[in-house]
Amino acid sequence: MKEITFILNNEKRSVQVEPSETLLEVLRDKMGLKSPKCGCDRGDCGACVVLLNGKSVRSCLVLAIETAGMEIMTLEGISAKNLNALQEAFIAFNSFQCGYCAPGIIITVTELLTKNPKPDLEEIKEVLSGNLCRCTGYKPIFDAILDVTGKEVK
Ligand code: FES
Ligand code: FES
Repeated sequence: MKEITFILNNEKRSVQVEPSETLLEVLRDKMGLKSPKCGCDRGDCGACVVLLNGKSVRSCLVLAIETAGMEIMTLEGISAKNLNALQEAFIAFNSFQCGYCAPGIIITVTELLTKNPKPDLEEIKEVLSGNLCRCTGYKPIFDAILDVTGKEVK
């Protein structure tokens, strides 16, 4: 076990980790954050995506011990006070059913919108190509994102 300290959702936090523990395991099992989900545990589904120093990463593929000193943001941190515009749009457009994929998708799109506030549909599809949703057929997800960017939803 080794103690590491990182900035988690804007708060300095310390935790004991095993060298083999993934960031996803530590966030869910030790930090009590349930928005990052374990869909596959091997980098395929995107359900576990969080922001690490502002970049989206699959937390099942990152060793927690490597994140010492870094900034980690999960959905809990992004909407600590109120739902953000993307989350409101997901509700308005019925963009999730079971909801398992939604945190990873919202984090992934948050990174995209930070870099490019007006992505077109092709850019949205490209950035979400690694986020699997088994329920919605994706259109309500794309519609919600387009709505937030001010684009016409067809
Ligand atoms: S749980 Fe990490 S990509 Fe699927
Ligand atoms: S809403 Fe169920 S996997 Fe996307």
